[in-house]
Amino acid sequence: MKKRILITGGAGFIGSHVVRLFVTKYPDYEIVNLDALTYAGNLENLTDVATAPNYKFVKIDITDEKAINELFATTQFDGVIHLAAESHVDRSIKDPLAFIRTNIIGTVNLLNAAKEQWSGNYEGKRFYHISTDEVYGSLGEEGMFVETTPYDPRSPYSSSKASSDMLVRAYHHTYGMPVVISNCSNNYGANQFPEKLIPLSINNIKNNRPIPIYGKGENIRDWLWVNDHARAIDVIYHKAANGETYNIGGINEWKNIDLIHKLCEIMDKKLGREPGSSAKLITYVTDRAGHDLRYAIDSSKLKRELGWEPSLQFAEGLEKTVDWYLANEKWLENVTSGEYQNYYQRQYGK
Ligand code: NAD
Ligand code: TYD
Repeated sequence: MKKRILITGGAGFIGSHVVRLFVTKYPDYEIVNLDALTYAGNLENLTDVATAPNYKFVKIDITDEKAINELFATTQFDGVIHLAAESHVDRSIKDPLAFIRTNIIGTVNLLNAAKEQWSGNYEGKRFYHISTDEVYGSLGEEGMFVETTPYDPRSPYSSSKASSDMLVRAYHHTYGMPVVISNCSNNYGANQFPEKLIPLSINNIKNNRPIPIYGKGENIRDWLWVNDHARAIDVIYHKAANGETYNIGGINEWKNIDLIHKLCEIMDKKLGREPGSSAKLITYVTDRAGHDLRYAIDSSKLKRELGWEPSLQFAEGLEKTVDWYLANEKWLENVTSGEYQNYYQRQYGK
């Protein structure tokens, strides 16, 4: 019997890379991509695998309990890799409820449906929940998040992800569900929706628009190439013990303003502009409410126990990312038309 795996949020940024990896690496698995196709979900991310014989797409909203239950009543799954989520901190500040519905209630709908289908027979089954380092809160200048760092989420987004992590653990402890969780740092790479720092800045530089830097630009993030996250998910899905948690990170901390200067240099070179011209677009804007200062993740447990480490240096990854956005103008045009204009207006006011 072929293994069948449900990947939720597969039309989004990280999910599309995970779907592609699983569809191409495991021809013996049937991959079902479940996605509601919100503003962040885009089937154009998956045109190269859309007709693969081991791939199927279903359009379902995970907040729709009935639709989720119907899917699980009619289709047997060996595993669930759950990425579907509302994922943008700024949006969570404006509309927390959307995050509660999808990230918390949607996750519980999936847990309940899997529990019902597997009904205590957990042999060969796995529910893998994809989470974020933001659940650990904000660091000062020293230290790193480890798997045992107490949760201290501070935005509606990170609080909703922290809640879902705890519910997933509760299903393990209470019902014996075979779960694993990973908490990853900031991802970058192809197909990221241009509301997040790197693709938003690439798009604005390309169009000679201001690059909005929140506060003084001194906040620090740890950046990981999205394909390396997908590789980590593959390793954890196949090798982790039930009930385990792994941190995933890039060992790659950057102050926002330094990162943007690096990006400006690359963009000047790629666009044949005078050195220093993109950096002139840097514009300091009002800080994000409750802006976490620093994230840094210690992923040594994942390296030690399962042998994963990042494959790509940041300079190379950033250049590949810029190349992808410049080569995929149509993609960028499609996702920045319509509703994006309204979002941009609401968030940045111009
Ligand atoms: P994304 O916003 O690009 O994609 C989310 C996907 O989920 C979209 O395809 C969207 O259509 C789908 N979705 C949203 N609500 C849904 C619903 N109610 N029902 C079904 N589908 C729905 O997000 P991403 O950046 O690819 O993040 C994927 C996962 O990884 C999330 O769980 C996020 O918390 C986590 N994560 C992201 C990062 C990052 O840097 N982007 C880092 C660590 C963890
Ligand atoms: P973002 O990409 O939204 O990821 P997260 O908030 O999940 O870390 O933001 C990354 C960092 O960049 C964060 O410190 C906020 C900052 N930022 C800006 O300075 N300007 C922007 O326009 C955006 C979107 C983010």
